[in-house]
Amino acid sequence: MLSLDGDWRFRWCAGLHDLTEGFEAPGFDASGWAVLAVPSMWQMTDLDGEAPYGKPQYTNIAYPFPVDPPRVSEANPTGEYRRTFELPDGWLESGRAVMRFEGVDSAFAVWINGIRLGDGKGSRLPTEFDATEHLVAGENTVAVRVHQWSAGSYLEDQDMWWLSGIFRPVALVHRPENGIDDVFAHAAYDHATGLGTLRVETAANARVTVPELGIDIAAGESATIPVEPWTAETPRLYDAVVATETERVSLRIGFRTVTIEDGVLKVNGKPILLRGVNRHEWDPDTGRTLTVETMRHDLELMKRHNVNAVRTSHYPPDRRFLDLCDELGVWVIDECDLETHGFDASTWRDNPAKDPVWRDALLDRMTRMVERDKNHPSVIMWSLGNECREGQNLDAMAAWAKERDASRPLHYECDLQCRYADVYSQMYVGHADLERIGRREEDRCDDPANDERRRSLPFILCEYAFAMGNGPGGLSEYQRLFERYPRLQGGFVWEWIDKGVRRRTEDGREWFAYGGDFGEQLHDGSVIADGLVFPDRTPSPGLIEYKKVVEPVKIRINAETATVSVANGYDFIDTAHLRFEWRIEDDGEQVASGVLEVPVATAGAAVVADWPEALAKAIASPSEGERWLTVSARLAADNAWGETGFELAWGQTALSAAPVPVVDGPGPAPVAAADRCMLGGAVFDGFGRLTSLGGIEMTGPRLDLWRAPTDNDRISWFGTGLAAQWRSRDLALDRLEHKTLAVEADSDGLVVTTRVAAAGADTAIGAVYRWRADAAVPARLWLTVAVAPEGKWEAPLPRLGLRLAVPKALNEVEWFGGGPGEAYADTRAAARVGRFQSTVARMQTPYMFPQENGSRIDVRWATLSGGGRTLSFIGAPSFAFTVRPWTSEDLDAARHPHELVERGELYVNVDAALHGMGTSSGGVEVEPEHRLEARTTMFTVGFEAGSDRSVCDRPGLGRAAG
Ligand code: GAL
Repeated sequence: MLSLDGDWRFRWCAGLHDLTEGFEAPGFDASGWAVLAVPSMWQMTDLDGEAPYGKPQYTNIAYPFPVDPPRVSEANPTGEYRRTFELPDGWLESGRAVMRFEGVDSAFAVWINGIRLGDGKGSRLPTEFDATEHLVAGENTVAVRVHQWSAGSYLEDQDMWWLSGIFRPVALVHRPENGIDDVFAHAAYDHATGLGTLRVETAANARVTVPELGIDIAAGESATIPVEPWTAETPRLYDAVVATETERVSLRIGFRTVTIEDGVLKVNGKPILLRGVNRHEWDPDTGRTLTVETMRHDLELMKRHNVNAVRTSHYPPDRRFLDLCDELGVWVIDECDLETHGFDASTWRDNPAKDPVWRDALLDRMTRMVERDKNHPSVIMWSLGNECREGQNLDAMAAWAKERDASRPLHYECDLQCRYADVYSQMYVGHADLERIGRREEDRCDDPANDERRRSLPFILCEYAFAMGNGPGGLSEYQRLFERYPRLQGGFVWEWIDKGVRRRTEDGREWFAYGGDFGEQLHDGSVIADGLVFPDRTPSPGLIEYKKVVEPVKIRINAETATVSVANGYDFIDTAHLRFEWRIEDDGEQVASGVLEVPVATAGAAVVADWPEALAKAIASPSEGERWLTVSARLAADNAWGETGFELAWGQTALSAAPVPVVDGPGPAPVAAADRCMLGGAVFDGFGRLTSLGGIEMTGPRLDLWRAPTDNDRISWFGTGLAAQWRSRDLALDRLEHKTLAVEADSDGLVVTTRVAAAGADTAIGAVYRWRADAAVPARLWLTVAVAPEGKWEAPLPRLGLRLAVPKALNEVEWFGGGPGEAYADTRAAARVGRFQSTVARMQTPYMFPQENGSRIDVRWATLSGGGRTLSFIGAPSFAFTVRPWTSEDLDAARHPHELVERGELYVNVDAALHGMGTSSGGVEVEPEHRLEARTTMFTVGFEAGSDRSVCDRPGLGRAAG
């Protein structure tokens, strides 16, 4: 094989009127042309500079041209590519030579030495051309003309950037006489006998050998032999060779059998649970051209985050990705390069799924996918495509696939009646409906004839938990349902990666572009930023949450019985690859740790381990503060994607209740001056606003009900998003005024009565601040806020808490509570109780579209320090804590993180409660228990200024119990 990747001469043409006549001729002088790398996508070139080849455009559903199939716009950017190559010696003497293009977006024609070989469509599928007759010894010229738009574009309306070019490898492949054009390896596993059966189909007169198994058979024959099966948990592959006298084809065989039995999807006789993600191919610099390193990196990240399945939304990936799935162990739904969602605009008139003129084109795509990928054990299902509604052409694809490969179930979400789909699949089903499906109690099929069959099928959520921005909320609730009902076999989070395009500001700061950032007239904005990893593949808090929610072993600590139970949630393997460790922390400081001997649990089983003596002893020792026991499951040895000691799962329990801080008082009484009032170490202005504490200047704290809307607040499938309600005239939470009604001092402290409401709004919140000084610590103040809504509050509140501005120097952060990452009411599974350090800068989560972020949950205390000062916040018992160098209003106004400008102060939010995240941008609202309703309530927070860190060690705790 001769790779033709590398530098090609390239000319970008504005359209069909602008083509270069004769560019394919060997004698054509292209020395003045630019050079472009193959593979690549031409719009990704020099986007911060000249952007010489146009720019990316993002649409989710809409076609970027008038829907008038099969015609496309007159403006059809076209790339002309040329290069020469030396034909390897001997290639002309026998056999054939084939030009293989692995992916060209969207339509192209190829010439060798000026002779046209043919043309191709089907961007994410391979195309081959026999070039034999036109090759010459020595130097040859290949020319390719690629059009951005074609009839094929109507079939490629996936939710992604429109990008073009030869974006996957190109090669010239020598095919020997009597070679092997195709092989189909059938490698089944019988779990009852432990035997694998291998049969390789090929038209050639070939022998099949698997040295490790001692197999040496003719193609077409079967061998049945004891084997270790392939699963995503045990990706056991056997090297095989299929050979004729002239050609050897290497295969990696995985023995496994996929069935649907008793209404569930099984592999090797066992039901599986999919902990999946939808994966688009994406690199922020190169678009859909990915290196093998990036593909491997994706899979390693997935494995490290307990993800075990990928739906290749919505096209077959680079073939090398599937090699890696086989090797590392991931279940794959391989999806065809097909989506016609934009026909929504014309109420699906002329949808290619129905119209017979498209039949061959659709069948061709299915054929090319199945033939390319049929030998991958990781591929356990074929999928026809995404969002094409229904139609006879899809029926034909399904029929063909079943005929060609009866060993894999077929998936297609729009086959609502499951006329041919072998699994019932839906997207974005809410928890309650999912539960009904789990019980097989969903509404009847429109066509009663199909009802019984559909109800008997397993169910998967091919998309759920829309991961746009902060969130997705509600993962834990989904997982509970998946684990409870055998019919529910898991799902695929939408989606793996934020498809942001990396840019740099003039002064070199990095940022990521989304729809509209390239001046597109028609675009879908930041909906492209909906992944579990950021565009640079940094895990987002959503991925950390997912990892915890889908952890493969569940650790429960029972302090009463002094035991730890470990439930093995793997489908196949036992827990011998894990090592368990315990540690005890008092107020987040480790006081003891050790190894926990846990009996090996087989798949699906639970075992119980007694606490070792060292643990029992450590627990018996006295603790001053709050004591927690954590047990972690870690890799006992290095494997292909994780190192020894890498944590996969954990459990935690409190061993002693948190000491509840109480006000040590009565402290000093307030002292009133002309325009201010002093209380302990604090100074208030005439409106009763705290202006300094222990000499640290501050503004506030005052009631804060607003958050910079998250994507899920802004976008809703149910009409108006919450953000719009919050901004409505009736509530106007984003422009509340705080009016002081009274400032009263008594011997207990200071009482400030306020009314919080917006111009024009009828609703209001009464907020009464009761300040008390602490008798023991002069620079400690306690604040109890009583809030009482007035008027009609029809929307939940984004947050309920206090905001204050503090000096910028206080930019080191330490806290005891939930962490290390951000967490909200319905995204809190991954927050463990501990003591954490960070900085203000590191506490910001850089969502591609700025929004509320960074809150830490269940914080007992938090201390900001810097410049020789500390400022602590003390919970009674806890609060949610956020600190940022800008305000919520700044976050709300910004469209990209790099537009945020640090202010001269830091802004702290100390929240009694926060509304959940939900995924209403993906059709699922915040669950009732995570809604924050406006109601009469009260909360208390302590504030303490200090001069160095040690003063605030465990602030407010330990002195006053109960
Ligand atoms: C689904 C679609 C995905 C993606 C998602 C979020 O309907 O299948 O491709 O577009 O919505 O926008």
